[in-house]
Amino acid sequence: MKNKKKIIISNRLPIQIERKKDKLIIKPSTGGLATGLNSAFDSSEILWVGWPGIVPKDDAEEEKITELLKPMNLLPVFLSKEEIRNFYEGYSNEVLWPICHYQPSYIHFDREYWSTYVAVNKKFCETALSIPQSPDFIWVQDYQLMLLPQLLRQENKELNIGYFHHIPFPSEELFMNIPQRKELIEGLLGADLVGFHTFADSQNFLNSCKKILNVPCGHNQLKHKDRHIFIESFPMGIDYDKFVHASSLPEVNAIATQFRSHFPDQKIIISVDRLDYSKGILERLRAFLTFLEKYPESHSKVVLYMLIVPSRDKVSQYKKLKDEINRKVSEINSIYGNLSWTPVLYFYKSLPFEELIGLYLASDICMVTSTRDGMNLVSKEYIASNTRSNGVLILSEFAGASKELVDALIVNPYNRTETADCIYQALIMSPEEIHERSEANRQIIQKFNVQHWVRLFISRLAETKAIQRDEWARRISDKVFSSIAERYRKSHNRLFFLDYDGTLVKFQNHAQKASPTVLLYNLLDSIIADPLNTLVIISGRAQESLSTWFDGRSYYLVAEHGIWSNFPNFNWAYKKGLALHWMPEVKKIMEKLADQTPGAYIEAKPYSLAWHYRKVELGLGELKAAELKEILNPMLNDYGLQLLDGNAVIEVKNTEVNKGKAALEIAGHIKADFLLAIGDDITDEDLFKYLPQSTISIKVGSNKSAAKYYLDQQEDVLQFLNQLIIKQ
Ligand code: UDP
Ligand code: G6P
Repeated sequence: MKNKKKIIISNRLPIQIERKKDKLIIKPSTGGLATGLNSAFDSSEILWVGWPGIVPKDDAEEEKITELLKPMNLLPVFLSKEEIRNFYEGYSNEVLWPICHYQPSYIHFDREYWSTYVAVNKKFCETALSIPQSPDFIWVQDYQLMLLPQLLRQENKELNIGYFHHIPFPSEELFMNIPQRKELIEGLLGADLVGFHTFADSQNFLNSCKKILNVPCGHNQLKHKDRHIFIESFPMGIDYDKFVHASSLPEVNAIATQFRSHFPDQKIIISVDRLDYSKGILERLRAFLTFLEKYPESHSKVVLYMLIVPSRDKVSQYKKLKDEINRKVSEINSIYGNLSWTPVLYFYKSLPFEELIGLYLASDICMVTSTRDGMNLVSKEYIASNTRSNGVLILSEFAGASKELVDALIVNPYNRTETADCIYQALIMSPEEIHERSEANRQIIQKFNVQHWVRLFISRLAETKAIQRDEWARRISDKVFSSIAERYRKSHNRLFFLDYDGTLVKFQNHAQKASPTVLLYNLLDSIIADPLNTLVIISGRAQESLSTWFDGRSYYLVAEHGIWSNFPNFNWAYKKGLALHWMPEVKKIMEKLADQTPGAYIEAKPYSLAWHYRKVELGLGELKAAELKEILNPMLNDYGLQLLDGNAVIEVKNTEVNKGKAALEIAGHIKADFLLAIGDDITDEDLFKYLPQSTISIKVGSNKSAAKYYLDQQEDVLQFLNQLIIKQ
């Protein structure tokens, strides 16, 4: 097999192999992942790694299957019966599937499930890494392989890894119930880009990361183990042209005409789903029953034709569902059916592509009533195939597709009456309205097709990698450190500006607890032990705090962002003439919000006010801080104030002072030939911006900054400074 540079890995290959009378037959796989992704790539440009859906009889058959798949650029991962039971049916479909589809009561957990899930993910990893050529990218697909990104990363730090989650990602409240939640999250964070169908799914994932790993997250990214990882939504599309083309074929139209001829006097409602409780099949039947009860005039004039594709039939919830569907269909047909009319027709099989399109073409209404669905491609296929735009789509608000296809009739499938009324509305809808709604949805489906989806994901993955590379270039590597140390050694007059909280000490829940350690005192004393060094601690803290901790030592201190300073003679003085008349009003507003927010408190300094929310429940603090900013923003100009959005703190102070101006004033007197500034916060950005170009400016944390370099965390600052002065 020619080595490929692009690798896709999914549990299921786009084809499955069946053995019939000792012959191996290749059939297409069903399910949105396989159908969608398969048409997005030219098979010659990728190598697809996955399970072929069969347990080989012996080594010879395994070899035979491998050879059979080679020309299609498919690389099989074989699973034993036990692995199928514990990894596929077990952990994947009895734990992850129900939790991601908001059905925690359907979870079934056996002890072997997790260890087999880990082992099979490792098996996929080994197969992928057995490919000799290093790939452009590896794109891992779906919940069966949540550990794989991290396993691949462990083997090769440089890999370009994407992951796409094809099913919903639950709210963190639900996800927290999974015993292996941390391992799963860390598994996914081996990827550089993690994609979901909807914005809500991506936010749910970020919230789980925040909670489980206790790391700060941006709205679309987070930092984990040295890397910025992007978490975004990419709604998957279909191969639009393929469906449009198929619907123009004479043989497909003949199928549609023949199908219609069975129901000459009736409107046809179709549904197409895998057998799955997430598809809301029972909810649909209940709503149809309510419709028949409520609208007797429709009797004999409408049929519900359900195509249910066999799926996961060894999993007990699926077996149970099949029985319940059988019972419900019989119930409806026995109540309302008669010799000339069967209200519900139900088929448990899959259809060849042309017949499926024929079915789409022939029907008047397509009903999608998922109680949860990652995307639901059937809804898009229905609109695309119906080129005459004469079919109505009823679409559940719980399917990802409802976020895009807003011109469908959107329903809550749990509400039987509403869904029944919707069926009626669809039946009486004017041809003009049907056309208009259908065309509006078509435009979206045409543009956001599966090729667009792949392009978008792959180019975002490349961008992510470029962002990571830029970031690594700013990191203080051994080489960068050596050049800084060299400059230090050669200089004769050195000036250090060091921020305090988050730079010299770790943040504490209560600001007063963040006092200097003995180690820190020793380090700072060692810096100033060298007569060539001048040290300035420059902080947003109140003058009293710095005074308590550092008075009597020979370092200069700047407090309240520059309002107070003990430079040049170690006597404290403050900037005169600063207006204070804004304080009572701002304090009142801050107090009001602190009263509404358990854990928030105000730090009132003589010339500035800070609203701290480090101790507030995650999420609530950010929300209340945003509210506070919104209230304060319109006042800032009038009072000449600056609002600093710091690390779990909102600070308001006079615009006339900032750390940059204060530092520049001191630098003007010292005339140093080695200037170093280290800080972690938004307020330190002024420091980085105001000081001369030649300054070695270092940010703690790799967030966007005006600083030239960065160190990962606060502990690294102490190590950096220690090494710098010891190197002499
Ligand atoms: N499908 C199929 N054979 C059938 C019926 C449906 O291959 O007999 C395909 C259908 O065209 C669609 C996919 O199965 O592309 C179902 O994807 P969807 O996103 O709707 O749901 P999923 O099965 O992925 O949950
Ligand atoms: C959904 C999942 C896919 C899965 C498909 C069919 O689309 O997102 O990962 O392949 O269903 O399910 P199956 O269990 O047959 O692979």
